[in-house]
Amino acid sequence: MSPHAQETRRRRTFAIISHPDAGKTTLTEKLLLFGGAIQMAGSVKGRKAARHATSDWMALEKERGISVTSSVMQFPYEGKIVNLLDTPGHADFSEDTYRVLTAVDSALMVIDCAKGVEERTIKLMEVCRLRDTPIMTFINKLDREGRSPIELLDEVESVLGIACTPVTWPIGMGKRLKGVYHLLLDEVHVYEPGRNFTRQDSTIFKGLDAPGLEAAVGADMLAELRDELELVQGASNPFVLEDYLAGKLTPVFFGSAVNNFGVQLLLDFFVEHAPSPRPRATLGRQVDPAEDKLTGFVFKIQANMDPAHRDRVAFMRVCSGTYTAGMKMIQTRTGKEVRIANALTFMASDREIVESAYPGDVIGLHNHGTISIGDTFTEGEPISFTGIPNFAPELFRRARLRDPLKMKALQKGLAQLSEEGATQFFRPLMSNDLILGAVGVLQFDVVAYRLKDEYGVDASFDPVGVVTARWVHCDDAKKLEEFREKNAMNLAVDAAGELVYLAPSRVNLQLAQERWPQVRFSATREHA
Ligand code: G4P
Repeated sequence: MSPHAQETRRRRTFAIISHPDAGKTTLTEKLLLFGGAIQMAGSVKGRKAARHATSDWMALEKERGISVTSSVMQFPYEGKIVNLLDTPGHADFSEDTYRVLTAVDSALMVIDCAKGVEERTIKLMEVCRLRDTPIMTFINKLDREGRSPIELLDEVESVLGIACTPVTWPIGMGKRLKGVYHLLLDEVHVYEPGRNFTRQDSTIFKGLDAPGLEAAVGADMLAELRDELELVQGASNPFVLEDYLAGKLTPVFFGSAVNNFGVQLLLDFFVEHAPSPRPRATLGRQVDPAEDKLTGFVFKIQANMDPAHRDRVAFMRVCSGTYTAGMKMIQTRTGKEVRIANALTFMASDREIVESAYPGDVIGLHNHGTISIGDTFTEGEPISFTGIPNFAPELFRRARLRDPLKMKALQKGLAQLSEEGATQFFRPLMSNDLILGAVGVLQFDVVAYRLKDEYGVDASFDPVGVVTARWVHCDDAKKLEEFREKNAMNLAVDAAGELVYLAPSRVNLQLAQERWPQVRFSATREHA
């Protein structure tokens, strides 16, 4: 196998999806500890501590240095190279969170055993569905009282519509937690709080009849486990790798991230079975990771990360070929050649200059606003990757200018910020309003701050009666015109000039969809 193929085969690029407080940060930290990137763990925790103070943009700004390095975390494990892409989750939840999921090959879903499937998880799962992303599940906080494991699996299956295959099974829960049983390895891993800080080194029993097991977990618990296993093994799906890879089945693990229990079993299974980079679609053809020419796309832009430099960093996922420092690439949207000498990698706790990057890796490209989300880079071939869409915003505000003479600057600022993915903006057909849309509420503060700081525009944002947006398409031009006339009050164009339906209520959207069956209402829009 060529060195390039070997490097590609050992990449595991993924993201964690969860509702806030389910334990994503804690789990991330443990994964990094296993990967030997111990110095990183501090930065993850530091970011978490800062999170509580993050209600204003200035605090966010201060925090940026950290949040950038933890945007992509690379670590080696068992001969594999793991790339963990951060999905901003609390106040910093934004469209970026969704778009990161378009750049990964698989995802890890973290669920709090007391809370089950929560709202944010459902939304993130919908995004994973767009590409049938393979998902592994970690049910966390087993050291606390939670719901019964069977009930939790039922909920995942019914609410998220994905089959569950338990790989580990808990022995007790909360104060009675004794360990987990690995169904595929036929091993019991005993829970010994406080013993597993950096590596899991719990006592392992091979098989349920192993001498000493009964003494370790108790006869009652063992009997309970046998009963549950009988039920579970009869009712649940066997692990079928193809079904997992097709996003139809999720292997499930139980554990406690904070106690580092059950985490290594998850990580071992993950590096063994999670997919390495796969072919990706462009407008014309599929690009195979094995191709020797470099290709990649930009899925995230972070602005002014270093306040002293005022630079922007575009995060590019490598899809094929090898990146080497100093090579020339073409930005296919503009046809411009760029020499990338100082791309960033995210391996250590600090930004570092990368020497080379392979499919599945992410590099950071410095620029001053010339790169947009969705941009494709190649060594010359004029292709564009698809599947890096805009997502329908869920929050809307009307921009109000304090100084009406600044209208031009406002429009320019909003256009640029929407190219970066900070916000989306819409111009209604029937008014001169500028309506901003976002998926996270902090985005409005960020936009207001940046408009002032970078464009000298003093704007505020007022509530507006819109609950969601849908891009509308219709193959029948006459029907579309009719639709446009009848619904002009609720229609707008986005920054790219595409027609959008701004729904005053969910019911209203539903009615419009029923009334106009020929019109497609889409919750995502591909970049042109
Ligand atoms: P998030 O990134 O998904 O938002 O979750 P995070 O890891 O920050 O965890 C949320 C809270 O849950 C934290 O408590 C964390 O310590 C706790 N937690 C995570 N895993 C477990 C677990 O396995 N068992 C228990 N009992 N708790 C867990 P916090 O009080 O908000 O923060 P901290 O003061 O503990 O850092």
